[in-house]
Amino acid sequence: MNSFGRVFRVSIFGESHGISVGIVIDGCPAGIPLEPGDFEADFSRRKSGAKGTTPRKEPDVPRLMSGVFNGRTTGAPLMVLFENTNTRSRDYSQLKDIPRPGHADYTGHVKFGGYQDYRGGGHFSGRLTLGLVAAGVIAKKIIAPARVSASILEVGGSSDIEAALERAMENGDSIGGIIQCTISPVPAGLGEPFFDSVEAVMSHMIFSIPAIKGIEFGSGFRAAKMTGNEHNDNILSPDGTTETNYAGGINGGISNGNEIVFRVAVKPTSSTHRTQRTLNMATGKMVDLTVEGRHDTCIALRVPVVVEAAAAMVMADFMLQAQEVKRINESKSE
Ligand SMILES: Cc1cc2nc3c(=O)[nH]c(=O)nc-3n(C[C@H](O)[C@H](O)[C@H](O)COP(=O)(O)O)c2cc1C
Repeated sequence: MNSFGRVFRVSIFGESHGISVGIVIDGCPAGIPLEPGDFEADFSRRKSGAKGTTPRKEPDVPRLMSGVFNGRTTGAPLMVLFENTNTRSRDYSQLKDIPRPGHADYTGHVKFGGYQDYRGGGHFSGRLTLGLVAAGVIAKKIIAPARVSASILEVGGSSDIEAALERAMENGDSIGGIIQCTISPVPAGLGEPFFDSVEAVMSHMIFSIPAIKGIEFGSGFRAAKMTGNEHNDNILSPDGTTETNYAGGINGGISNGNEIVFRVAVKPTSSTHRTQRTLNMATGKMVDLTVEGRHDTCIALRVPVVVEAAAAMVMADFMLQAQEVKRINESKSE
């Protein structure tokens, strides 16, 4: 569904070419300083404009519609809304009957019987991640001093990002990438067995980000090739600090007090400048499709800050459940 979290509960809404996108947060602690300027740094990291990103430009001005009073959160539902201003819906009219391979046009049509807003991917668009980043800005304040940090490790299978992008753009193609995310300091004891392990809830949230194809924690898939003696992290001190961190900061689904580390795989953008083959659902015939409109050559470049936001939301919810964070923020300044 479109809501996530037990105490820090985020609902997401909007369509790429509709009136607006945004989020509503229920369960946000009261008393957290918050003003529109707080969102700027993270929004600029998600913005397009750099090489390999879409030329669509949106001002991304956050409107705090409720839940903030005198510069602090009130504890009531907090709504952040963004108006869409730079829409060119004409570009997408063919998508009504001719779904783009690799995008959610076909599945969205099946799921919602053709009533979905298909313009620019509608509710499935990467534009929705603006709301996630907004919720992440607030979640990051809640979990401090824990800090979440994500960065690109490679794109198109190469750590030479510039060269990989050049190659993809010359070929009229797109590429994916791998992002690493770390969270620290993390108190030991977060996570709720059996089904709400830290890995389970984090993966659930991360897979909500469009275009994510994989996630691995700590040693990840490499663990299958290691021996137990290699893989075990020797415990050094009562706070749980370990010598190595193959576990990625999690044992038994519960945080062990070390840095949480995970990597995510982002797929290559489905929209490319090449002509592709797909089905015309109105005629039942296969047709050539050239995707009009503006899109990212490499989505992964814009995703680190979205991954950070997703991770911060999960940590905020776990910390509130474990009462590591109070429902009223008593600090007078931040
Ligand atoms: C920040 C961001 C920007 C995106 N930009 C595009 C884009 O320009 N073109 C495109 O085809 N997909 C783009 N996507 C990916 C699609 O939204 C996604 O592939 C689609 O919804 C299908 O979902 P799936 O890839 O998870 O199966 C973007 C995703 C994100 C997170």
